[in-house]
Amino acid sequence: MRITAVIRGAVVLLISGMTLFFASKLMEPRQRVDEVKYSIEPEAKRPLCESEIRCPGNHFPFKLISGAASVVGPSICFNNKVLMSGIMNNIGRGLNIALVNASNGELLSTSFYDMWSGDIKPLVEFLQQIKPGTIILLASFDDPATKMTDEARTLFSDLGSSLIHSVGFRDNWVFVGAKPIKEKSPFEQILKNEKNKNKYGNWPEAVEMEGCVPRKPD
Ligand SMILES: *[C@@H]1O[C@H](CO)[C@@H](O)[C@H](O)[C@H]1NC(C)=O
Repeated sequence: MRITAVIRGAVVLLISGMTLFFASKLMEPRQRVDEVKYSIEPEAKRPLCESEIRCPGNHFPFKLISGAASVVGPSICFNNKVLMSGIMNNIGRGLNIALVNASNGELLSTSFYDMWSGDIKPLVEFLQQIKPGTIILLASFDDPATKMTDEARTLFSDLGSSLIHSVGFRDNWVFVGAKPIKEKSPFEQILKNEKNKNKYGNWPEAVEMEGCVPRKPD
């Protein structure tokens, strides 16, 4: 008699336990397919501008992080301040570009250009209008190249890019340039989209670069 009661109790417990388990499974938010295959650390958990690098007095520190797949946006830090990020809500697919005054480090503008489905003309005009005495900080997101033209590549080359001619579909690209610039910029990195090496399926891992850019003497 007693044993039956205990077993019954155990069965009831087991059933209610399973109900809870299944209910909690059902209540889990649906995730996008992209996000189930791999996990990407959300931007909020990364100290965006934190760096081990200490720059000499006449230099500005910078830190650029490209997007991660089409999920986490890129970020641009300059002089220990976040200029562009997902949280700031001023980034977009394609090329994210911040312009700063090379003498005093003041932010001049932030903008982004969709390179997958956008029009190339606004980017070309933007690059042509950059004033002398400007530092250009760039971080790509998702696709930096589908709409790229030779004219735009030449303009980036004039700003000190040496890798622009190999920037292709879904590569990750970070770059610091300047106008005017005498030689090619040492601050540039590309991570190519290569199916067998990609960390995130159809996209490579985010590329991160930091350093110190010299201040333009007054
Ligand atoms: C940068 O700031 C200096 C000092 O305010 C100014 O004279 C110069 O025109 C500015 N340059 C650009 C490109 O904004």
